[in-house]
Amino acid sequence: MTLNIDATPEIPIERLDALVRSLSIEERANLTAGIDSWRAGGVDGIGLEPMLTQDGPNGVRGTTFARGSSATCTPCGTALGATWDVDIVAEVAARIGVEAKRAGVHYMLGPVVNIIRSPLGGRDFECYSEDPVLTARLAAAYVTGIQSQGVAACPKHFVGNDSETKRTTVNCIIDERALREVYLLPFEAVVKAGTWSMMVAYNRVNGIHCSRNAALNSTLLREEWGWDGVLMSDWYAAHDTADDATAGLDLEMPGPAKVLGSYLAEAVRARKVDEETLNSAALRVLTLAGRVGALPLDAEIEAGKERTPAHDAVTATRIAAAKRADFRRPWLQPAAADPSAPLEPVLLSDADAAALVRRAAADSFVLLTNDGTLPLNPAKTHRIAVLGPNAAAPCTQGGGAAHITAPYAISPLDGLRAALPEGTDFVHEPGCTKDRFVPQLTLLPVADMEGKPGLTVEFWHGQEPKGEPFVRYNSTSSDLHLFGDLPAGVAQNDFSIRLSGYLTPPMSGLYKIVMRGLGGRRLLVDGKLVADEWDSPAGIDIPTAIFEGKEDGDSFELEAGKPVLIAAELHSSSSSPSLLAIGTAAPDASDTLGAAVTAAKSADVAVVVVGTDEAWEHEGRDRQTTTLPGRQNELVERVAAANARTIVIVNAGCQMDLPWADKVAAVLYAWLPGQEFGNALADVLLGVAEPGGRLPVTIARSAADYPAFDTTPDSDDKLVYRESVNVGYRGFDAAGIAPRFAFGHGLGYTTFEYQSMELSAEGLCEGEPAELRVKVKNTGKRAGKEVVQLYVAPNKASVPRPKMELKGFAVVRLKPGESTEIVLTLEDRDLAWWDARKQHWHAEPGKYEILVGRSSRDIKLRQTFDLA
Ligand code: BGC
Repeated sequence: MTLNIDATPEIPIERLDALVRSLSIEERANLTAGIDSWRAGGVDGIGLEPMLTQDGPNGVRGTTFARGSSATCTPCGTALGATWDVDIVAEVAARIGVEAKRAGVHYMLGPVVNIIRSPLGGRDFECYSEDPVLTARLAAAYVTGIQSQGVAACPKHFVGNDSETKRTTVNCIIDERALREVYLLPFEAVVKAGTWSMMVAYNRVNGIHCSRNAALNSTLLREEWGWDGVLMSDWYAAHDTADDATAGLDLEMPGPAKVLGSYLAEAVRARKVDEETLNSAALRVLTLAGRVGALPLDAEIEAGKERTPAHDAVTATRIAAAKRADFRRPWLQPAAADPSAPLEPVLLSDADAAALVRRAAADSFVLLTNDGTLPLNPAKTHRIAVLGPNAAAPCTQGGGAAHITAPYAISPLDGLRAALPEGTDFVHEPGCTKDRFVPQLTLLPVADMEGKPGLTVEFWHGQEPKGEPFVRYNSTSSDLHLFGDLPAGVAQNDFSIRLSGYLTPPMSGLYKIVMRGLGGRRLLVDGKLVADEWDSPAGIDIPTAIFEGKEDGDSFELEAGKPVLIAAELHSSSSSPSLLAIGTAAPDASDTLGAAVTAAKSADVAVVVVGTDEAWEHEGRDRQTTTLPGRQNELVERVAAANARTIVIVNAGCQMDLPWADKVAAVLYAWLPGQEFGNALADVLLGVAEPGGRLPVTIARSAADYPAFDTTPDSDDKLVYRESVNVGYRGFDAAGIAPRFAFGHGLGYTTFEYQSMELSAEGLCEGEPAELRVKVKNTGKRAGKEVVQLYVAPNKASVPRPKMELKGFAVVRLKPGESTEIVLTLEDRDLAWWDARKQHWHAEPGKYEILVGRSSRDIKLRQTFDLA
């Protein structure tokens, strides 16, 4: 694809250096810390406004925008990983860049380029793959895509943040080969792709917290890789002024500063930190500011002088873009005179974005099995049963920092209804639940204090919700994230809030009513205190406490139709984020599973959508099991027994056990596919689009088969990466275990023949890249996509190496009968292992086998060659 480049011209480094040296120590130091949750410090004197950041990675999170704002919700990391398509990833990232720019955002916190080491990892859904090469190439494409719009990428989390348990203290023990060959490889790729910023991780690596790991942050990133971008902390992950700064951390986030910023100025004045360390950090922040257009250009640069010829081609458009009235329109909450004045919502998405994410989602769906039932023939589908807890309430995106406000989410049920001809008979039954938490109160009939649907939110200054509130509004959510998203005029460290409304029970019975939160909080039912955590301190380990989700409350016998007043109150006495949520579970009286089975019996086809939700797929905590939550496995088994044409859609961010996979007509893995889920699903089920995905992870037959599973550190907080370089499929190969579904696997609706391959290995022997020419033909009756995968297997080596490793891949799209020749390249480095003793990559002379195929376990062509 061609990306429309829309970025500001590079400001010459000497110019920036002079600018840095013209600033006082305090001004320079201000550049090294945030001023609030989402803005890095600016410097008035040089016209540098604070740069705005937002999460990432699957859309613009927009926590500083007015309520009602929304941005395109793209497929999650594993979904993009499953496309194996650098072009589509670059396109999606460019789209996020466009929206970020519209929202005034300078740098976006993503992509996540950590490795899916265990299927339990809470953030697996944000990562691309278990494989470093697949991750590296897609990550580089993402960086190129987003930065083509003049918005910085911020690949994260450098490095070893591959699971979430005790994420701020865990000490990941990773041997040097595994670090280099697996975990660092994607970071190396984004550095090569020219990322303008990067985020250090919370955890420790081999004993040292990432924020102060000089071997990684200076020696490797700066000296060996020559990277000049901004290295920032994860939120609250900076540790020590002198150590962090000296190790190479440039920016502490969020603000106000606790470690760098004014503390760094003090340390420089006290000669505890070298002034040149401060200068380098300030220079890198100004370089970033220049790149994202936050630093006003001087006349000379604007006039086009001092540019290299390469700049000239795009300069005119870049400058025009920088001057456009709508460029970086600051959609931040202004410090309004009237703090309760409504703000205009920011609507960033549009029809083009919807079409793109629909295509990307279809391209990520992995068809694992198909007995021929798919694609469905709409003319023969008279009655369809759409079942499962995710059919009408899907999980389109994960939770935590990655969670964005989407304009809408099309459910599988809605998508199929829209796509199948009018008159098709639909029957829907959820069958069972999948909830981790007691569901949101607002899912039941509730009215705010004025009788409108929803709840009333009221804010007070100070620690007690007393007297006339400062702000009052209606909320359709009973889950409030009070993190940089407070009404103007409310201080993060000195407010109290009440969330209240009337629940009208739809039936009589025992209801569970609970609150969750971070900050002192209490729950009242009909004015009676039922849970009291008012004096509970905010979590010391804020990032983990936010997402822990402790629930306090009770069960209550309620009468149908008789309203009950539910209120939760919270006070925030610290500058940390607060959170307040109310959950309510209604009595479960009916045989929902039986109803789903009955529905399946009566239908031509049963589509069962199983999976997880945002509470299961969440940062800050790992899952405990790969079993689908609730009674979902039982649901699939019983539906499959009732209807031979049962298609199972797995709506989960990472690997789940699929014990029933051989008993159903088809299994499609759909990941967390973003706002267009239902439409993309209908496209694929009805054959309008190909199921384009291939597994970016291995799915095991049993949890015990995964080379790394348990993510709990030992009593010393150590998490030892015992499998070393044998992560993912490499571990299955090493142990001789057959997976249920192999890495790279995925079916289409057509067939491909791998006709021949030709390797010009001479180049390799002479230190040049070798070319591998592979001929493939679409031998089926439909147009289709094939992902040609290239693996390398060393015949023998002086160190234990994985049996085979992915080293290249290409997407081929062919019409029926069409054939093509693709060219993949192989370099020395693709054959090499990291020699920790000599500190270099070593491509050992000897025999290597080149394997080309459609998955790691379905090799179609092979050839051996000798590396002299
Ligand atoms: C996450 C980061 C995220 C940051 C800001 C942290 O908890 O680990 O990935 O970018 O919060 O939301």
